[in-house]
Amino acid sequence: MHLHKYEKYWLVFGVGSLIVFLLITGIMAFHNGSHPPSAKNTINHEKVDEIAPFNNPGVHKVEGKDWDYEAVVVASAFYYDPPVLEVPVGAKVKFIATSKDVVHGFGVAGTNINMMLEPGYVSEYVTTVNKVGEYLIVCNEYCGAGHAQMHSMLKVVD
Ligand code: CUA
Repeated sequence: MHLHKYEKYWLVFGVGSLIVFLLITGIMAFHNGSHPPSAKNTINHEKVDEIAPFNNPGVHKVEGKDWDYEAVVVASAFYYDPPVLEVPVGAKVKFIATSKDVVHGFGVAGTNINMMLEPGYVSEYVTTVNKVGEYLIVCNEYCGAGHAQMHSMLKVVD
């Protein structure tokens, strides 16, 4: 088949653009992966209880980090460990959470905290709550029969 040189140029340009497009979408897909955007690290979900920091759920003061406290949460059907998190008002808190079984949610009503907890992944979110109060933590991913009863509490204290 004979191609005019301009047709050839546009063909090369078109194929080249397609390759660039596929590379970009491929790279984006690779970066986003299939895990929730808040989850960076992987974990063996069957050994969560043995792996730090999840072997010690709760709120811990930390030193030398960009945040003041770490709130470590383990979700499983159909509860959160611990059932209550208490943090001082205005403190910078890193929420670190994972699931031991199925996908759960971790949404703190009235705040911008909203994570998806997927077994095998560690979800993290750093934020500051500037208002004293009791905030309901709810599971916002359907996880089974006890989904509607799955909740805990964030207490922000003075
Ligand atoms: Cu856990 Cu819904």
